[in-house]
Amino acid sequence: MKKARMIVDKAFRVAPVDKRIYGSFIEHLGRAVYGGIYQPGHPSADENGFRQDVLQLVKELNVPVIRYPGGNFVSNFFWEDSVGPLENRKPRLELAWRSLEPNTFGLGEFAKWTKEVGAETMMAVNLGTRGTADACNLLEYCNHPSGTKYSDLRISHGVKDPYNIKLWCLGNEMDGEWQLGRKTMDEYGRLAEETAKAMKLIDPTIELVSCGSSFMEMPTFPQWEATTLEYDYDYVDYISMHQYYGNPENNTDDYLASAEDMDAFIRTVIAACDFVKAKKRGRKNINLSFDEWNVWFHSKKEEEDITTNHPWQVAPHLLEDHYNFEDALMVGLMLITLLRHADRVKIACLAQLVNVIAPVMTEPDGAAWRQTIYYPFLHASRYGRGTVLELLTDSPVHTTQKHGEISDILGVAVFNEEQEELTIFAVNRNLKEDVELTVDLRTFECYEPAEHIVLACDDLKAENSAAGENVSPVQKSCGRTENGFYRTVLGKASWNVIRMKKN
Ligand code: AHR
Repeated sequence: MKKARMIVDKAFRVAPVDKRIYGSFIEHLGRAVYGGIYQPGHPSADENGFRQDVLQLVKELNVPVIRYPGGNFVSNFFWEDSVGPLENRKPRLELAWRSLEPNTFGLGEFAKWTKEVGAETMMAVNLGTRGTADACNLLEYCNHPSGTKYSDLRISHGVKDPYNIKLWCLGNEMDGEWQLGRKTMDEYGRLAEETAKAMKLIDPTIELVSCGSSFMEMPTFPQWEATTLEYDYDYVDYISMHQYYGNPENNTDDYLASAEDMDAFIRTVIAACDFVKAKKRGRKNINLSFDEWNVWFHSKKEEEDITTNHPWQVAPHLLEDHYNFEDALMVGLMLITLLRHADRVKIACLAQLVNVIAPVMTEPDGAAWRQTIYYPFLHASRYGRGTVLELLTDSPVHTTQKHGEISDILGVAVFNEEQEELTIFAVNRNLKEDVELTVDLRTFECYEPAEHIVLACDDLKAENSAAGENVSPVQKSCGRTENGFYRTVLGKASWNVIRMKKN
């Protein structure tokens, strides 16, 4: 059998995990809101129309922050349409996804829902078709206590205490030709600088995310990052990153190897941030907000057909990717990659949360259910809290068509000192061979394996559905350490969570 070795040492710390790395995203898109988190009349809906079956599954994921309301949607969002008495709200044409936005769910409803979830809001402002003044008005509505036009408007809507939203995105994917109000990098840089300056005058306690490139393959990447940050460096705290992967060519080896691309993407954005910091003789680091990441490709054709041929529907079935087992492996690899950069990736949002490229799906008249990708996210969010440790791995390799030779094993170690727990997340992305793993744990005296959770399936294309789960985690029997070494087998094509506890 192939063999791999890992060395974990308590002393070699990368950084504490910022819990916001387990964030997610709800956009007014498809059935994320309407028919997803909110469906008055559904048997599980409460008096607010919030589906409790969905809420349960979302709560289990322990998501600390949720980005809202878009996405592409935000670039033509008129927030005033979504607040105040329901009877005064009017439907609007939603141009990003060519849908009909009923506006029966808006900022106030989302704030109520996130309270039930136990998450913070990460709010995006419209820098597409609107600008600085509108962003300021929205911030005043949300965060100013009282005595001004927009804070009093909020109070008149029955919300006495400010929402105190701490995290704000300065637009969305402003370089994309699909974006309403797309900007050049100089246009965006100036607008983001001025908007950030004004927003921090209103509330200096907020944190701001400047828009990075829409994805790594954008022709202007990474010049966009360097140029825009040169404008707004003084006022912003993070730069956004977005990336989706897929396997449209059905080449699973290369698909799973694309975690290497994600790693390169992160390293390049860090380099761009540090270049600007050096140029500015700056003192602060700009950190990374990877606020859209996931697998997205299964539903592209349907999406094109709906937006082109069947526009202006309320909550159409858009971006409803049905994930399979190999997608869950890919999501696991992406989580590992994010965690390995915990020193600079402080926020990350799994895009999205319900129905739209999501871990949680709903049947319109039936139940909510967990997609395959639900599980690696659940495990990471549940056990990946603490400090990321440098994990030295000596792994066998396999050859891929596009990525050349890549390691079979990709892993990360998170040490939760308070709970006296060490968790190793590892994917064996060799599709044909098991790998015997030896972990050197000699600095973790008295730590013994508590459990080894495995997500594996003979069929890479197996999916879950409302009818049942073909892909769900199982417990693998785990032995004991021997003189500070732990041996186990990472089965071919598997997601592994090895939890060690102090005895
Ligand atoms: O998450 C789906 C879409 O992907 C978002 O609206 C957009 O920001 C990105 O292109």
